[in-house]
Amino acid sequence: MAIDRTQEILEKITLLKQQRNAVILAHNYQPAEIQDCADFLGDSLELSQKAAQTDAAVIVFCGVHFMAETASIICPDKTVLLPEADAGCPMANMINAEQLREVKKCHPGALVVTYVNSTAEVKAESDYCCTSGNALKVINRLKDTGDIIFVPDKYLGSFAAAKTGKHLVLWPGYCPTHIKILPDDILREKNAHPAAKVMVHPECHSSVAQLADEVLSTGGMLKYPAQSDAGEFIVGTEIGLVYRLQKLYPDKIFYPASEKALCPNMKMISLEKILRSLQEMSLVITVPVPIREKAYAPVKRMLEIV
Ligand code: 13P
Ligand code: SF4
Repeated sequence: MAIDRTQEILEKITLLKQQRNAVILAHNYQPAEIQDCADFLGDSLELSQKAAQTDAAVIVFCGVHFMAETASIICPDKTVLLPEADAGCPMANMINAEQLREVKKCHPGALVVTYVNSTAEVKAESDYCCTSGNALKVINRLKDTGDIIFVPDKYLGSFAAAKTGKHLVLWPGYCPTHIKILPDDILREKNAHPAAKVMVHPECHSSVAQLADEVLSTGGMLKYPAQSDAGEFIVGTEIGLVYRLQKLYPDKIFYPASEKALCPNMKMISLEKILRSLQEMSLVITVPVPIREKAYAPVKRMLEIV
């Protein structure tokens, strides 16, 4: 887009934000221009916390549908806008409420821990929600008596089971973007950059996580370089994070593990769509009251265990 046109859109967004008392929250995988225009950037947990804290009347959520839906569960009195109706998360749609009820029937009395990458209906059938940032803490909190069902991500689930030593009943969901990162990608990059530390997201295949120095949420990956003496990092997650890392740590070097790890849904948001969203106050994301009331308790527990 021409610089003048971009500037014009940004100015209109700033004006409308003031008029509507709106805040722009954006996930760490968003395109660079969205990251630069956001009031707050973060991982799923940080964005949920921010939604809970903000005084703004309107939240423009630059991310995918379940993230905006979670914000609406947390603050039903606010208007939550998703600038692109089709920005969904395929993993979140890999289990529905009926399927979760069937699993629960097979494991009577089990506790259900649901990854935040899920629909409101599935959250409403759950005891706890978690993000990749606090999954281990949430699972460690649970009593050892009885089964624990973990949905929908089998890779985050098996990572959490291995780390906590707890047996989890897993659902075969996965992230189509993260499974594009292969062990060979990590080995190739390690070979090319032997001094680099490898950090990967827990949605990666277990064979990839095993090759990593650190398995972290996107928020964790953004903090790790500050604590590490290393000057180079191989980044096993959606490639949008590399832009953010490089901006935060200009003296360090970040190599994406695979350029194929691109989430098309996260890239659907544009500055034009944010502007239209604020002009038309669309698409408003709401959750039907009976679902919201049931989904709130597990989401609240997720926000409390940090
Ligand atoms: P984070 O919570 O780590 O940002 O992950 C969200 C997500 O969708 C990863 O694919
Ligand atoms: Fe969903 Fe994967 Fe995209 Fe994250 S990267 S939003 S889990 S499809």
